[in-house]
Amino acid sequence: MLLIYALQTALRKVGDYVIRRCDETDLPAVIDINMAALPEHYSDYFFEAILKELPEAFIVAEINGKLVGYIMCKIEFGFSNFRKLGFVKKGHVVSVAVLEDHRGKGLGKALMLEGINGVLQRKADEIYLEVRVSNTGAVKMYEKIRFETKSRLKSYYRDGEDAFLMALELS
Ligand SMILES: CC(C)(COP(=O)(O)OP(=O)(O)OC[C@H]1O[C@@H](n2cnc3c(N)ncnc32)[C@H](O)[C@@H]1OP(=O)(O)O)[C@@H](O)C(=O)NCCC(=O)NCCS
Repeated sequence: MLLIYALQTALRKVGDYVIRRCDETDLPAVIDINMAALPEHYSDYFFEAILKELPEAFIVAEINGKLVGYIMCKIEFGFSNFRKLGFVKKGHVVSVAVLEDHRGKGLGKALMLEGINGVLQRKADEIYLEVRVSNTGAVKMYEKIRFETKSRLKSYYRDGEDAFLMALELS
C-alpha cells in the first residue's frame, strides 16, 4: 500500500529512491536529516511555514518508507543576480541535504532539479543559494547543474565562514 502511494506521487525515481513532494507528516524526518547533515538548523515552525509557502519546491527523497534527503526553497522579490532591470522573482534554495550513507547516487542533483521545477511553476526568473566556501562537494554539484558563482559574502555564517552566492538563470 505504501509503495503504491509512493509510486503514484513520485516526481521521478533514482534507482530505488522515490523523489516526491514533502507532506506535513514528513517534517519530523526532514528536521532529523537537517540536524544530521548541516550546521544550520531552524525551528519546527520555520519548516512548516516554508512547506505552506512553497510546497511545489519542498521535495524529499525516500527509500523503503525512510526519508534520506530533502530540499526546501522560497520565492523572493529583489535585485537580479543577472543584471536584469528592476525587481525580479527569485527562487531561493534555503536548504538541501542527503544523509551521508545515501550520497553520491544522484539524489542531491535530483532534489535540486525538482526544487528548480517547483520554483519554475511559480514563474521565477532565476534561483540562487548560499554555500560555505569550504563545501567543495556542494559547489561541484551546483556547478554541474550550471549555477554560477556571483559573489562572495563575507562572514555570512555564524562561525564567521564566508559564503559563495551562486545563481542560475531560469528565463
Ligand atoms: C551536497 C549534497 C546534497 C550532494 O548530495 P549527493 O546526493 O551526494 O549528490 P549527487 O550524488 O546528486 O551528485 C551530483 C553531482 O555533484 C557532484 N558531487 C556531489 N558531491 C560531491 C563531492 N563531495 N565531491 C565532488 N563532486 C561531488 C557529483 O559528482 C555529481 O556529479 P554528476 O552529476 O556528474 O554525477 C550532499 O553531499 C550533502 O547533503 N551534504 C551535506 C549538506 C550540504 O552540504 N548541503 C548543501 C548546503 S549549501
